Formats: sequence, structure tokens, C-alpha cells
Amino acid sequence: MKKLLYQFDTDALASVFDNVVGYDGGADHISAYGGVNARNVGGLVEGAIFTRGLKDKKNTAIFIGGGNMLEGEAVLAAVRSKFFAKFRVSVMFDCNGSNTTAAAAVAWLAQGRALAGKRAVVLGGSGPVGQRAAVLLAREGAAVAITGRKRDVVQAACDSIHGRFGIVTEPIEAPTHTERGAAIAGAHIVLATGAAGVTLLDEKQWRDSPTLELIADANASPPAGIEGVGQSDRGVSKHGKILFGSLGFGALKLALHRACIARLFEQNDLLLDAEEIYAIAKTMVG
Ligand SMILES: NC(=O)c1ccc[n+]([C@@H]2O[C@H](COP(=O)([O-])OP(=O)(O)OC[C@H]3O[C@@H](n4cnc5c(N)ncnc54)[C@H](OP(=O)(O)O)[C@@H]3O)[C@@H](O)[C@H]2O)c1
Repeated sequence: MKKLLYQFDTDALASVFDNVVGYDGGADHISAYGGVNARNVGGLVEGAIFTRGLKDKKNTAIFIGGGNMLEGEAVLAAVRSKFFAKFRVSVMFDCNGSNTTAAAAVAWLAQGRALAGKRAVVLGGSGPVGQRAAVLLAREGAAVAITGRKRDVVQAACDSIHGRFGIVTEPIEAPTHTERGAAIAGAHIVLATGAAGVTLLDEKQWRDSPTLELIADANASPPAGIEGVGQSDRGVSKHGKILFGSLGFGALKLALHRACIARLFEQNDLLLDAEEIYAIAKTMVG
């Protein structure tokens, strides 16, 4: 029986990245829908849950993506609201690679060391990847702050995190390099999750920090999100800090994403969101 993946994307055009990784993760066929929202997803879900017998339902699965976390979470809630009794299929939630990217980055940061009691600053953290990274760092015991260019945007991200996970994060308005430099004062961990190709911090702003231990940069599109962090850095030591670049942990992100897709087809009632994806990442890191 063919493994069918239904890719529901809140963006107008469904993500090609998620499509390719879906195939690489083991789907035999992917139907990719753009412009999916909580109001129009119901009929699509019904088609997924009513078509195959119980023992075959595990061969149908749903992937939720897109650039807007709130819309994505609303789609996830709408999808789950359609499930009842045995009429359900496995679902993976990974808006903009949020869970898989954050899980890979934080799994590497936490590999072989405790993050509990550390102060972590997620630069440009109001987006999908930053929000999930903040959650996972907090779950590792770090006190987490998120920076963004506008207070209301970063506050909304912190509120969203609190609403979904009950975790308190500190919003910091930091629209310039100078303010972001000030925001990392006293931090032990800095993770940049700003938009692709945007530099958020210069090397001179972090190299002499007496507290910084770990630095990671998610941005894979030049120039670097944090100047001085190499794309392929994976535990590289520089200025007394340990560095991880986007490709350095990106290999785990891709392997994790594929592994999660594969798991979707092992049962018909799996939900892969932040907690579950991070747990899988912890078994794969290193
Ligand atoms: N390494 C990997 O494997 C991997 C995988 C997936 C994604 N990524 C990368 O991870 C990063 C985060 O992804 P995402 O989808 O969460 O990003 P995003 O939503 O596109 O952007 C994240 C945040 O960056 C800030 N921002 C946007 N334009 C900016 C500008 N000109 N100057 C300063 N800040 C700006 C925004 O926050 P404010 O408006 O609050 O300032 C935004 O919420 C991206 O660089 C993406 O390419 C890496």
C-alpha cells in the first residue's frame, strides 16, 4: 500500500523543502496544498481519515508547515478536532522547519553539557524557529530572552509561547546591533534565528564576552546571522566560545526531519510537535 503524505501549508505556495524531505523520509506520494487554514482544512482531513481500513491507516499521514506559527497551530487544532475514535492519522507539525531546526540546534547545544541555570538569548527569535528554540532551551533549564525589532512583535511571540507551553520568556526590543549587543550582556548562550541573510551581531560584540560559552547561528544564507560563526562549525572553539553554524547542526535537522516523516508511517495516531521531535533529536545527536 502506498505511503501518502498530505502536506498542508499555510503559505500560498507549499514549501518545496518540506516536499523534498517528505519524499526522502519515505513517502511514496505527496499531495501539497498551499493556502490551508483552520476553516478549509476539514474536508481534506476527512478524506485522509475515512479512506483506509484501520490496519492500513498508518500509510496515510499529514504534515503541517508554513511561515506563520499561529496559523499553523490553528490548522493543527482544526486537524485534530476532526479525529475521533480510530478515525485518525499521524501528524507532524513543523512550520518553517521550526521544530526540526530548533530541536537540532538545541540538541547540539545541550550535547554533553547542562544548560540548566544558564542565560540564553535568542536573537531574532519571534519567528517560528526562534520560538521553538526558546521553548527547548527553557525546557533544558535555561532562562530565555528573545529579541526582536519591535516590542509588540516580540511580546506577541513570548505570549504565544506562554499560551502553548506555559513557559515564561523575556521579550527584548533590540532593533540594532548596539541593542542586540547589550541584550547578550551576561548571557551564556546566544542563538541567532533571524531571517535568512540578515546579520544580527558583529564578531567584536561577542568575542570578548566574559560569560558567553555557546553560540549558534541558524541562518544558512550569507552573510552569517552572527559574524564570525562559520556555516559548518559544529563545536568549533573560537575566542573561548563553542560555535555551531547553520550547516553544522543542519545535518541533524535534515536527518531528524526525514526520521520524523518515516515514523509517521509506523502508526496512525502519532503527533510529532516540539516535545516529541526534540525527544527524537536527543537520540540522534552526536
Ligand atoms: N540551519 C537550518 O537547518 C535551518 C533550517 C530552517 C531555517 N533556518 C533558518 O533559521 C532562521 C529562522 O527561520 P524562521 O523561519 O524562524 O525566520 P523568519 O520568520 O523569516 O525570521 C525570523 C525573525 O527575523 C526577524 N527579522 C526579519 N527581517 C529582519 C531584518 N531585516 N533585520 C532584523 N531582523 C529581522 C523577524 O523578527 P522581528 O520582526 O521581531 O525583528 C522575524 O520574526 C532563518 O535564517 C532560516 O533561514 C535554518
